Formats: sequence, C-alpha cells, structure tokens
Amino acid sequence: MKRRLIAGNWKLNGSLAFNAALVAELRAGLQAAAPACRVAVCVPAPYLAQVGGLLAGSPIDLGAQDVSSQASGAFTGEVSAAMLRDFGVRYAIVGHSERRQYHGESDAVVAEKVRQSLAGGVTPIVCVGETLAQREAGQTEGVVKRQLAAVIHANGHCISEIVVAYEPVWAIGTGRTATPEQAQQVHALLRAQLKAATERAPAMTILYGGSMNAANAANLLSQPDIDGGLIGGASLKAPDFLAIIAAASRDGA
Ligand code: PGA
Repeated sequence: MKRRLIAGNWKLNGSLAFNAALVAELRAGLQAAAPACRVAVCVPAPYLAQVGGLLAGSPIDLGAQDVSSQASGAFTGEVSAAMLRDFGVRYAIVGHSERRQYHGESDAVVAEKVRQSLAGGVTPIVCVGETLAQREAGQTEGVVKRQLAAVIHANGHCISEIVVAYEPVWAIGTGRTATPEQAQQVHALLRAQLKAATERAPAMTILYGGSMNAANAANLLSQPDIDGGLIGGASLKAPDFLAIIAAASRDGA
C-alpha cells in the first residue's frame, strides 16, 4: 500500500538555533510515536547541511525548496540537483506558486527544473494550483491541467517518479482551506491526467497544500486521491506538524 507523505515547507524561515530546536522536538515526538507515513522537511538552502546532520538516523527526509533548471555553468545564485544530492536531499519543491508569482517561473521553466531534478536523483514535488480569480472564473481545471501538462510533456515516462502537490493559491497562508470535496475534485482530475501518461499513476503521490493544519488534516487525508500534505505555516510548530503526521499515520497510511 502507498505510504502517505507529509512534507514541511519552511519557506524563508529559520535560523541555526530555531532549526536545531524544531528538529529536536520533531525527533522526540517521532521517537515516542513512529510515523507510518513518509515525512520530510524542505528547508532554506543554506541550512541543508545543518538540518541534514540533525536528521541523521531519524525517519525524516531532507528536502529543498527549489532547484536550478541548469546542471552547471555560469548561472550565478543557482543550486543544481547534483549539489542537493551531495547533501543528502531527497525531495525538492518545484514550481511553488510563490516562485511562479514572485520569480516569474513559467510552466516551461518549471518543467525543466523537474527534468533536472529527476536527472540528479532528487524527487521533485511539483506544485500546481489556481488563483482565486481563476477559480471564480471557472478556470481551475484548465489552469492545473496546463501546469501539469507542461511537466508531463518534458519528462516522458519519468513522470511516474514525481510527486504532485495541488496548492490552490487562495488557500496558501490564508487560513482558508479548500474543502475536502473541492480538493478531491482537483486531485481526481490530476490523477486522470497522469493516468493518460503512465500506468503507474495510481501509485503516484498527490499532496494537498494550503492551510493544512492539525484540525483539518484528517478530513483532507480521508479523500481517496489525497495522499499527503505540503505544509507551510503549521510545519514550523512541532506540535502541529506532529499532529498532522499522526493523522497521516492512521488508517490507510
Ligand atoms: P501554508 O503553505 O500551509 O502556510 O498555507 C503551504 C505551502 O505554501 O506549501
């Protein structure tokens, strides 16, 4: 059976001291109750080495929040998938809406980042999602399908190796969560799109992200096509993140 995945997205947060305290609390919590799901934390690039060390021997995998669309060369400021691998990184978030919005990442750039990530042995967590205006204009299906299609097109049969995260932009950091039914509807669409590309689609992981928290996680995770969560704000508080992991570890994990 497919194990759920709970991934924390720390975004632009943390310090050496904060990270050490948070990971210590997470480790203690998971030692008391071993997770039945997969767990990862996606941390700012400068802290990969520190957090990688802190996680050693724990059930938590290390993740990054971005990866370059280039393998090497004159690309100032970029971090390649191979460099991430050097630090034991297992996952990289790719195409988060904040990067699409504030850093102008197009569908084509996201698709290329996914390709580089897979080539470098790092599992990309590919984010798709509509804005509030797009949802209200009835464009949700068109938008997420277009975003995923670009990634499928550029990655061929390797597509079964990616993790997808449906993150409605209007639910990110707003406290406004998609209802389990709203989320399931989009997850089912994405699963169907993946099925047309690979027979492995049923075994692929599709996460929900957007104000997932300790109180709403179990309901969201009860949906048939929601295989885990990408957690922002609540991943910075150990008790909240541990509660989400516990919810994901119950039946069906
Ligand atoms: P949030 O962020 O949980 O704070 O809404 C989720 C994300 O952006 O990945």
